Amino acid sequence: MLFNRILPIKEYPVNVPPIRTRVGIVGAGPAGLMLAHLLHLQGIESVVLEARSRQEVEGTIRAGILEQNTVDLLVEAGVGDRLLAEGHRHTGTQIRFAGQGRRIDFEALTGRAVTVYPQHEVLIDLIARRLADGGDIRFGAGDVEVHEHTGSRPFITFVDGDGQRQRLECELVAGCDGSRTATRNLIPEPAVRTDYFRQYPFVWFGILAEAPRTSDELIYAHSPSGFALCSTRTETVQRHYLQVSVDDTVEDWSDARIWDELHRRVDGPGAEVREGAIFAKSVLPFRSFVCEPMQSGRLFLAGDAAHTVPPTGAKGMNLAMADVWVLADAMTGFLVSGDRRGLDGYTAAVLPRVWRAQHFSWWMSTMLHTAPDASPFDIRRQEAELDTVTSSDAGRTLIAENYTGLPLRERVYARV
Ligand code: PHB
Repeated sequence: MLFNRILPIKEYPVNVPPIRTRVGIVGAGPAGLMLAHLLHLQGIESVVLEARSRQEVEGTIRAGILEQNTVDLLVEAGVGDRLLAEGHRHTGTQIRFAGQGRRIDFEALTGRAVTVYPQHEVLIDLIARRLADGGDIRFGAGDVEVHEHTGSRPFITFVDGDGQRQRLECELVAGCDGSRTATRNLIPEPAVRTDYFRQYPFVWFGILAEAPRTSDELIYAHSPSGFALCSTRTETVQRHYLQVSVDDTVEDWSDARIWDELHRRVDGPGAEVREGAIFAKSVLPFRSFVCEPMQSGRLFLAGDAAHTVPPTGAKGMNLAMADVWVLADAMTGFLVSGDRRGLDGYTAAVLPRVWRAQHFSWWMSTMLHTAPDASPFDIRRQEAELDTVTSSDAGRTLIAENYTGLPLRERVYARV
């Protein structure tokens, strides 16, 4: 009894020997898998715990735009072969409003570009590489709980795919468990953690269709009836999005209604949406969120566990990659030479990029969407804003620099 009270069985399973590793990583999304890979390149072993099955992780549809930084990072880390072979480099994009299209030439304005390569393909590549390198990823891990992250010997308990309770002992913990994170809640709010949150009065409705490309480049379209985005996956599979009401469900949108609305919002001189068979529909959440700090003791949050952006700027996975690029270096400094400075400075090092991406995503969202209560004045003002920004090199460069991503190397974290 006494034993039970001091060491509750649930938290301290002893029926199997503990697993030992240097970094326990919660979540096998872009942040968790890339962190594991970057640590491996530095000779540091980790274990990744993921609640979903490998199939689910590899099959979940997410956004598909990689900043130049993300491409460079994946290629430099040796996991970019398929991305280079199969991804589509986009050197510009089109912004449409008031019945006209304006091109933003990323390459001419910044010397940089983006690559269309869906997130789940990045995950497929990272998982394959991790497993080929002998990496340890535990799919189907339930009841994951991090313990004693404020002490010097944190550990994680979980139920493995066979229903066996396990205990993972590690030196550092990375919370990479996405926007529905449990690890974030270990940093008490409001005592230690502040959450910054913004809800929008609309959401996105996304489709995948067997159809030819509407255009060689993505089209971001503002219209009085709402925003639309024509994106792409392959020559024959297209990804399109519509701004819809927060109350809308998949059932509200028949195929005919979707195509009608895409035509209404996008078509005009130089653009006509090309139809095909729709084979996937979903409603996407639309919000902005940041928590500060992104760390506590030996726990470090990365990616959506710490911040979420609305999808308009296509920044989600790119921010996750930028976080772990800093975090892997900081963890290596600590684990190899006991230098805590990188870890202590982690939040301060990554937050400026996080907030700039927040601003860009918010700005693109509010500039391009039509608020449900928008007055005729608001619509005219928005058209004028789009005109201002897309008709000068200064405005176009601002979009191009942020869309293709602030260079990682220029933001070396403070080794104070
Ligand atoms: C996508 O292709 O899924 C996509 C592209 C651009 C965005 C958001 C999503 O801004």
